[in-house]
Amino acid sequence: MPKERILVVDDEPDMLSSCQRLLSRSGYEVKVAPSGREALRMLKEESFDLILTDLRMPEMDGMEVLRLSREQSPDSAVIVFTGYGTIQDAVMAMKSGASDFVTKPFSPDHLLLAVEKAAGNLRLAAENRALKGQLEERFSFDNIVGRSPAMREVFDAIRKIADTNANVLITGESGTGKELIARSIHVNSGRKNRPFVPLNCGGIPEHLVESELFGHEKGAFTGAAATRPGLLEFASTGTFFMDEISELPLNLQVKLLRVLEDRRIRRVGSNREIEIDIRLISATNRNIQQMVKEGVFREDLFYRVNTFVIHLPPLRERMDDLPLLAVHFLKRYAKSTSKVVEGIAPEVMSVLKSHAWNGNVRELQHVIERAVALTTENVVRLEDLPDQLWRGADEGTGEPSPEERSHFDLPFKDAKEAMIESFERKYILKLLSKHKGNISRAAEGSGIDRRSLHRLLVKHRIEASKYA
Ligand SMILES: Nc1ncnc2c1ncn2[C@@H]1O[C@H](COP(=O)(O)OP(=O)(O)OP(=O)(O)O)[C@@H](O)[C@H]1O
Ligand SMILES: [Mg+2]
Repeated sequence: MPKERILVVDDEPDMLSSCQRLLSRSGYEVKVAPSGREALRMLKEESFDLILTDLRMPEMDGMEVLRLSREQSPDSAVIVFTGYGTIQDAVMAMKSGASDFVTKPFSPDHLLLAVEKAAGNLRLAAENRALKGQLEERFSFDNIVGRSPAMREVFDAIRKIADTNANVLITGESGTGKELIARSIHVNSGRKNRPFVPLNCGGIPEHLVESELFGHEKGAFTGAAATRPGLLEFASTGTFFMDEISELPLNLQVKLLRVLEDRRIRRVGSNREIEIDIRLISATNRNIQQMVKEGVFREDLFYRVNTFVIHLPPLRERMDDLPLLAVHFLKRYAKSTSKVVEGIAPEVMSVLKSHAWNGNVRELQHVIERAVALTTENVVRLEDLPDQLWRGADEGTGEPSPEERSHFDLPFKDAKEAMIESFERKYILKLLSKHKGNISRAAEGSGIDRRSLHRLLVKHRIEASKYA
């Protein structure tokens, strides 16, 4: 892949030539402009991935270049140079959309690192756009996302059996998407314009399940003040979804079996039989076969409900799906909160990939929802994840985090600088959580003076208030 195209804008000729030399040596394609006005002319004619501009220049200053380049090419990233001690300028620039700043005078390593970081983010945004494209094109079906072989089998199964009347049993741990699949089968069947009626068998007291299912006549039992049809009646001509079917009491298992065989029901307290036509989809997160062996689930009912079985493996067994799912939820929550969140930082993805996900897709969904709500940037960063997810990942063990491991591939000087950056970041984050976001106390507790601490916060784009 060709490296990024960079435009450097500065009124000092020496700066221009040394930046040009340095960056071209690292493989970037570099052009230079000695003034803001010249830069604008060039921006109109060609496109750049990255723009490096000095802030203080005669005539048109860097803020103006920043503003106009955001207009001309919103996808490119801008890094600004600021003089020592002009942190306010940097803050302003970042607020106006600069992606980073570098304080003058800077070492070649420092500049390269900033450029690499910005270029990395651009590539990340491009990758995320590609993932979103895949989501739209190939790897989703009715909002069900997946590219793992297991999920592709699920898609095939839905296509094959949706438009039949076969009873379907969906198995899988909690949060793997059983209800989502059940609804998708319904909307892809000939019954799609008829009701989809769910009942969570574990969710209501045992003595009420029967009247929920079958309905009752007025006065059938104490409390039955009026005649009420049951859910099976409501579901007639549509789909009945029995969630947690393993929790159905044994006496009702017999009754349900009879309904499936005779296609008739009787309300509690009534002699009249009502014909019904339902398609049954059931779900369970327990091992029903085992329950059959133990005699707590009827074998004859088991064979009735499992005409077709769809098994959803736990998320940890189909990690291929994780990046797509994460981006899917990112898109959804960014949209619903009207936030611009372009992607997920690579180190976040590594942490997500190494988590066990006992709560499966639902857990991932909540993690992303929370991260989107918390992030103050256009990408999700480590500190937007719940503590237990990422602190464990790089603490205590003394092992380098995935992000730090990637530094080992850099030349020594860059690696050292990158390590220092990630150390700074971690140190500050810990410090802030310890002092609950109170900057004065954090400064005191660490021996960093307030101004330097403030500078580090801006540099790492950390908001102290998040830790309050
Ligand atoms: N493959 C997937 N693609 C997109 N979203 C998914 C996928 N799998 C699950 N989800 C989402 O995850 C959440 C949990 O899914 P769902 O409620 O279907 O799980 P479940 O297996 O029924 O869990 P439980 O056993 O706890 O009832 C839902 O918000 C669902 O939309
Ligand atoms: Mg469910």
